[in-house]
Amino acid sequence: MHQNKNKNHIPVLLSEVIKVLDPRINDSYLDLTAGFGGHFEAILSITKNPLESYLIDRDQFAFDYLKQKFKKLGVKIIHNDFLNASKELVDSKIKVDLILADLGVSAYHLNDAKRGFSFNLNGPLDMRMDQRQSLTAYDVVNKYSRDRLIYILKEYGEEPKARVISDLIIKNRPIKNTFDLAQIIRKVWKNSRVDPSTRTFQALRIEVNQELDLLEESLKMWLKLLKPDGRLGVISFHSLEDRIVKNFFKENGSYDYLKQVKILTPKPIVPSRYEIVNNPRSRSAKLRVVVKIKT
Ligand SMILES: C[S@@+](CC[C@H](N)C(=O)[O-])C[C@H]1O[C@@H](n2cnc3c(N)ncnc32)[C@H](O)[C@@H]1O
Repeated sequence: MHQNKNKNHIPVLLSEVIKVLDPRINDSYLDLTAGFGGHFEAILSITKNPLESYLIDRDQFAFDYLKQKFKKLGVKIIHNDFLNASKELVDSKIKVDLILADLGVSAYHLNDAKRGFSFNLNGPLDMRMDQRQSLTAYDVVNKYSRDRLIYILKEYGEEPKARVISDLIIKNRPIKNTFDLAQIIRKVWKNSRVDPSTRTFQALRIEVNQELDLLEESLKMWLKLLKPDGRLGVISFHSLEDRIVKNFFKENGSYDYLKQVKILTPKPIVPSRYEIVNNPRSRSAKLRVVVKIKT
């Protein structure tokens, strides 16, 4: 069962990650969002250092998969969100040569109707990456105040019709399934080029999983975990995440050697047309990489 689901996830920007992160033999590696280990496998084939490889994922299924596949090699596999896991690694005084965060959900999440991430599949309004947490998209949709809903749709979904959608959501409560929610949103946007649910679903996912707060808090931990000359790469999938990464790298880095890090990607690296055709999920990916200068 693991194998089939894993096949759905293709690691994005793989050759670009290898080129810019530049793994070398014996490098230690921390994967903050290991998923199904696609990036890790490619990196491990170069570093050949499983004993100093750390894989984090907060999803139970990904964690079980990683454990089954890599634990016997001596790889450390951690079931936690990357902020808490990074804090623990900092406390343990771990430092590594390479760090990668490939943010967001995997194809496995999107393709499993039960997880409720996709408006193309009917499922419960769930959207939790970590199944141990209690807050679900159902709670946000059905229990949040009008003001809070409007705020989330505006800030996390950049939804221009946040008010109208929030009012319709409230009028139709309780909303139980992804299809019911998508139908309500489609009534507001009748002739939209992209599915108008995209923005609301993004907003709900960010709220349920606290994606932006975790990223913002974690970035400073990641610099602490890097050895001098260590490289940190972050792949983001929407402009809100990318802005956080870009601003953080700018504040802490420069294009010369005066600050903590040097920016290796003055412009983010994006997928080739070829990759987008083969893996449409990659189309919004942006990779930014820095190298650590000082400890
Ligand atoms: C895009 S997938 C990564 C795929 C992976 N690079 C590969 O090649 O298989 C993102 C993964 O990160 C996990 N994830 C997202 N946010 C996380 C967080 N804050 N802490 C830990 N894991 C997270 C998700 O559960 C998902 O499995």
